[in-house]
Amino acid sequence: MANVHKDAEYVLLSKEQIATRVKEIAKVLDEEYQGKNPVLICILKGSVVFFSDLIREMETDLAIDFMKVSSYGNGTETSGTLTVKQDLSEDIANRHVLIVEDIIDSGNTLFRLKNMLQERNPASVKIVTLLDKKARRTAAIDPDYTCFDIEDEFVIGYGLDYAEKYRNLPYVGVLKRSVYEK
Ligand code: IMP
Ligand code: MG
Repeated sequence: MANVHKDAEYVLLSKEQIATRVKEIAKVLDEEYQGKNPVLICILKGSVVFFSDLIREMETDLAIDFMKVSSYGNGTETSGTLTVKQDLSEDIANRHVLIVEDIIDSGNTLFRLKNMLQERNPASVKIVTLLDKKARRTAAIDPDYTCFDIEDEFVIGYGLDYAEKYRNLPYVGVLKRSVYEK
């Protein structure tokens, strides 16, 4: 493997591990959404890498859209309020919607987002997440598809950031505590 970033304690999920799992999930989604022309929604910015890999592994016809919401400041704890910073470009009424998320932590972001999208009368709304930190869940929400369950540690890379850094790392790594505990 190429050099590991100096701020990463260790590599939790390698590029290869992620690629293998994304392919598997894409197959499952292909079966689920065959002939349904789903809209896959990329939750900016963190999901962009997972999203790009996932849609290219799927073979069924689909549409894509983007949404930017935030319930996170610059830190490592969820603040609890959802702000829509950029909305979808198309109507989702009667469409099968699949929310593509990078990580579910407290679940607050997705809980509010799913409710908001459901009010627009889609045919269905499901969630696929790259990572699930189950131990931290406080909201009553669970993803329909999960690539990896992970422990309660702050992770970076493969789209995930800390203070807008590290999104370009090709693996998921655990951030050194010294970076945010100063
Ligand atoms: P939730 O609302 O607590 O589920 O927070 C979800 C959002 O928090 C994710 O979409 C990420 O942007 C961010 N987040 C939560 N945990 C991590 C982490 O370990 N690394 C990077 N971002 C995280
Ligand atoms: Mg995010």
